[in-house]
Amino acid sequence: MSVTAVGVDPPTDLMPRRVLVTGGAGFIGSHVVARLMLMGSEVRVLDNFSTGRIENLADAVSGGLTEADIVSGDIRAPEGVEVIHEWQPDVVVHLAAQPSVPTARRSPLYDADVNVFGTVNVLDACARGGVRLLINATSSDIFGSVAAHELPVREDHPIAPVSPYGVSKAVGVHYLDWYGRQHGLSYTSMVFGNVYGPRQEGGDCGVVSLMADALLGGRQVVIHDDGTQTRDFIYVSDVAEAIAVACHHNAVGMVNIASGRQTSVNEVYDTVRQASGVDNAARYEPLPWPDEVRNMALDTTKARELLGWYPKVSFTEGVRLTVRDARRRQAGSQILSPVRALERAISH
Ligand SMILES: NC(=O)c1ccc[n+]([C@@H]2O[C@H](COP(=O)([O-])OP(=O)(O)OC[C@H]3O[C@@H](n4cnc5c(N)ncnc54)[C@H](O)[C@@H]3O)[C@@H](O)[C@H]2O)c1
Repeated sequence: MSVTAVGVDPPTDLMPRRVLVTGGAGFIGSHVVARLMLMGSEVRVLDNFSTGRIENLADAVSGGLTEADIVSGDIRAPEGVEVIHEWQPDVVVHLAAQPSVPTARRSPLYDADVNVFGTVNVLDACARGGVRLLINATSSDIFGSVAAHELPVREDHPIAPVSPYGVSKAVGVHYLDWYGRQHGLSYTSMVFGNVYGPRQEGGDCGVVSLMADALLGGRQVVIHDDGTQTRDFIYVSDVAEAIAVACHHNAVGMVNIASGRQTSVNEVYDTVRQASGVDNAARYEPLPWPDEVRNMALDTTKARELLGWYPKVSFTEGVRLTVRDARRRQAGSQILSPVRALERAISH
């Protein structure tokens, strides 16, 4: 076994031939699709483009992703997951979701519809379709509020969500467990920290992009509470790498994919200010909701031991790359012409 950039060479007999990525046109999904194509797998995307965008797939299209590889469908509909029976992927990476904590607070019914019903629909199709490995995306929100002495949280920590988003992601984890025991579905369920990086945008997106967009756009940043609350931030290419590595391994069950360290919202703001060169003061406001988790960090020992994975991109470097992307977006970058053609094809 030789040592590589990710620690250990993945077993080659588990090289995935075909990988379906649900939510592949989203923020994390689009990075995953490009990374899996680099590794030599045939990749297809299943997405309903509710938050995902065809422009996100520009890298993948340059790398050979075609119109036929992009399936426009809804994971909540039986026909939406037909691609699993028809195309027979050996690995399914399930990222399609309602991913926003504030949206789940406003619309718990919609959140449950996508994250619970949609996830069960995907799991059921994978179990019946003979998929070798399901890689699921879940969130540190499943653990809810954790005492300071129990941080960083290990995978065997009790699941006790306090927000509707945490509840719906936790239900997905329980269904995975049932499909594993009842139907022999093999799964690796990744508990992500707060993922950030290029292409994260939209109303309720991650705090790094929100701050970068506000500062570069000349708007004041609002920080809820006193800004000393912490999260575990992980750069998106490290997440894509973790998924690529996991595709080559047998199932490892729940595994944390994060940095392992707490970063406060105030530290995030200072780092984004430095990277953007804009030095506006933030405005502090009281928390508008009572279910906010105070501190979070995830223990990454299991990922290192079983997958040979550990994060490579420092927070300072990741923020620098995210701010560069925000600057490029605000300057209105050109979309590659093959992506424009795909966009037209998919909207017809
Ligand atoms: N971004 C984070 O910090 C973070 C943290 C923890 C977990 N996660 C999880 O990672 C996954 C990806 O999140 P993201 O940040 O890339 O969000 P995203 O919104 O960018 O991606 C989600 C994708 O799923 C698609 N989608 C939504 N509903 C669908 C449906 N009914 N049918 C088919 N496609 C649908 C969207 O169009 C989008 O392309 C989600 O499961 C999310 O819960 C994200």
